[in-house]
Amino acid sequence: MHKKQRIRIAAACSGLALLCIALVWAVPVDASSNENIFKPDQFIDPETCGGCHDEIMAQWQGSMHNLSHKDPVYTRVAKFFRQGLTDAGQIEEAESCVKCHTPVGYVTGFPQKVSDDLSQTREIPAQGIQCDYCHAAVDVARMYNNGLVLSPGQGEDNPGVKHGPFDDSEPDFHDAAFSKLHTDSKICGTCHNVKHMVFGTDLETTYTEWENSLYNSPDPDKHVPCQGCHMYQRPGVPATGSTARPDNPGKAAVDAKQRPHIFTHNVVGANSGVPEWFSAKEKSAMAVERLTHAADIFLIMIDNHTARVVVTNTGAGHSLPTGVGDLRQVWVEVTLTDSDGKPVFQTGIPDENNELPENTVMFKTILGDGLGNPVINMAKAKQILSDTRIPAGKSAVHLFNLRSTPQKGHTLTARLLYRSMPQKILNQVPGPLLGPLPVVEMAATQKTF
Ligand code: HEC
Ligand code: HEC
Ligand code: HEC
Ligand code: HEC
Ligand code: HEC
Repeated sequence: MHKKQRIRIAAACSGLALLCIALVWAVPVDASSNENIFKPDQFIDPETCGGCHDEIMAQWQGSMHNLSHKDPVYTRVAKFFRQGLTDAGQIEEAESCVKCHTPVGYVTGFPQKVSDDLSQTREIPAQGIQCDYCHAAVDVARMYNNGLVLSPGQGEDNPGVKHGPFDDSEPDFHDAAFSKLHTDSKICGTCHNVKHMVFGTDLETTYTEWENSLYNSPDPDKHVPCQGCHMYQRPGVPATGSTARPDNPGKAAVDAKQRPHIFTHNVVGANSGVPEWFSAKEKSAMAVERLTHAADIFLIMIDNHTARVVVTNTGAGHSLPTGVGDLRQVWVEVTLTDSDGKPVFQTGIPDENNELPENTVMFKTILGDGLGNPVINMAKAKQILSDTRIPAGKSAVHLFNLRSTPQKGHTLTARLLYRSMPQKILNQVPGPLLGPLPVVEMAATQKTF
């Protein structure tokens, strides 16, 4: 427990002595209670790091890590979820988002919560998940809700130790040290596992999904950490489970020595819409390239009007989709067209409001309020009602009743599509309309009769 927290508990205790003795005993000591413990000028502007690490800087710029605080889908959904809450547990969760989305701000005093005026965020924290945050990490205190333990330097005059994958680095500007943590999925997993602050509901489980997957192999030759896919990707190299993941030889800094592999910092996932809004066209294209190398779709007629569609997660090191699995939309579109191209049967087509019909076959999680009713606001989530996402390496099978027998000249098409959020939610968020978000074709297959 750090000093600020002790003071707070002490202040709260005066007057409620007995209750507080019980409280202090019950509160577990959490080494990663980082709030307010660092001074803002301890964290160095990514621009400074980029002065020498120019290629890494160009990869990180416009990435979702760089945009984590400014991403309007995040900020506006977060403000929307916070609105009108009265339950203390729900409020605590709805305020907690800045811990991961604005991590430098959170540990240096501002913002502390979603309802703070986020436009007042200083320039360095506003640049999201950044160089000097990740490279100050020395340990992980828990594997969810950002348990990174940090040891930053004292700013540009005394930058301290930057932790990374090399054991022979001797830069002039800063000290360097080998860190096993940086080579491990754990450095990613502590933020990519999200639990409700009060109700304990598993809101995001990317790390756990990976931990239980074939990629977490005990055989070092088959073990693929998050970095093994997400820090090998560059344009033309999607680096997924179903593609080659070749080394990226080069230099980690201007004037540094040639090395067999430099970890790329694009850290692209599936989001192609948000980078596009920030003119990061290359990141957007890389997200599409990743999605088109993530899954296979297969189609067969099993009787004269029933199609069997099999979708296999061949490329993702976790469930498909992962992350905010309650918001992401991965679905199957099936169309049967006659010889003039006119549809005879179709499913999974967005309507005129850009909404998908209720009966669409979709791979997702549904959050519940604890009484079995679905909720979209994660702050209200007390249970997972269902999870139909496809685990790494696994398949999902669905039957489609075409309602008629395909005739000669008919064409049956099945497509796997991705969109990062339903329009329905974006429409409810106050302010100028967000979207439409891009729909990406991940895989497709066709059969002509
Ligand atoms: C999300 C956390 C994260 C962020 C943000 C981040 N890095 Fe890294 N960086 C890593 C990890 C993890 C590795 C090592 C990967 C491994 O060994 O598996 C790494 C490796 C490196 C290396 C060693 C060379 C290499 O790429 O292999 C340098 C230098 C580096 N990062 C600099 C930077 C700079 C400069 C920035 C900002 C422009 C930055 N990093 C942003 C996590 C991060
Ligand atoms: C004046 C140039 C310069 C600046 C500025 C600079 N670095 Fe470096 N850094 C280097 C050089 C040179 C290396 C050594 C590369 C190698 O060994 O291949 C290095 C290595 C690293 C490594 C790898 C350490 C290891 O042991 O694996 C990390 C991580 C890193 N820098 C992060 C940063 C961060 C974060 C910043 C900004 C706060 C930064 N650097 C600013 C020159 C610089
Ligand atoms: C075998 C390669 C591979 C590994 C290992 C891997 N990923 Fe992925 N990741 C992918 C692919 C392919 C996608 C795109 C498909 C998707 O969205 O699931 C993706 C997408 C993502 C997304 C965006 C998901 C969405 O739909 O919004 C996140 C976040 C992510 N990965 C994080 C991680 C983290 C954290 C780890 C380690 C715990 C990891 N990944 C390990 C291949 C991999
Ligand atoms: C400090 C917390 C934190 C750490 C550490 C971290 N991430 Fe992230 N990551 C985030 C947040 C928050 C976002 C989402 C930003 C947004 O969508 O607004 C994100 C986004 C991503 C995305 C893009 C998702 C998409 O939908 O396209 C990928 C891929 C990803 N992270 C992988 C990684 C990997 C790999 C590592 C480890 C090298 C890592 N992350 C470390 C918090 C973190
Ligand atoms: C423990 C870290 C963590 C916390 C706390 C957190 N997030 Fe995230 N958030 C992430 C990660 C990691 C991703 C990327 C996952 C993905 O791409 O699917 C993400 C992505 C998102 C996205 C998708 C953004 C986009 O552009 O599609 C939204 C919206 C979001 N978070 C909202 C919130 C809200 C609201 C809260 C607080 C109630 C919150 N997050 C708290 C880690 C966190």
